Amino acid sequence: MKRLTTLALKSLSFGLAALISFGASAAVQDDMSKDAIAKRIEPIGKVYVAGESAGNEAAASGPRSGEAVYGQYCTACHTSGVMGAPKINNAEDWEPRLAQGMETVLKHAINGFNAMPPKGTCSDCSDEEIQAAIDYMTAEI
Ligand code: HEC
Repeated sequence: MKRLTTLALKSLSFGLAALISFGASAAVQDDMSKDAIAKRIEPIGKVYVAGESAGNEAAASGPRSGEAVYGQYCTACHTSGVMGAPKINNAEDWEPRLAQGMETVLKHAINGFNAMPPKGTCSDCSDEEIQAAIDYMTAEI
């Protein structure tokens, strides 16, 4: 009876040892595979800004649309009106500004104006792309 128990225990512990070493080697293999390494070092989050892909695609094939530039850069301030930014298609906000003349408004957008950053943070935007974004922001006024 005692021998039988010992035998049972021995085979049980052998089984466990085999299981553990198998598990461990599988884990090591998994850890060292290229996929596993790539997965471990990949960025935790990917950020997609609204309109980003549209902007990038357009950049390869000509000027970005006003909508694409607005969606990627201007929306951060001009959708909610933070820091007094004139809100998109809000006539009350835009009329006094447009009254200065588009030339002045465009110049302010390109060079920056108080809390309005130069080119609205779109540093690689052409003047035309900034103008298109302004047109998009004021289209429904
Ligand atoms: C970081 C916030 C911010 C971003 C991003 C931003 N703006 Fe502005 N913008 C402002 C603020 C604030 C004002 C109001 C400035 C003032 O009148 O003192 C403003 C004003 C303007 C004006 C009016 C200028 C005038 O003469 O009255 C235009 C045009 C404009 N922004 C265009 C843009 C465009 C185009 C983009 C995107 C390419 C953009 N803005 C991105 C904050 C921003």
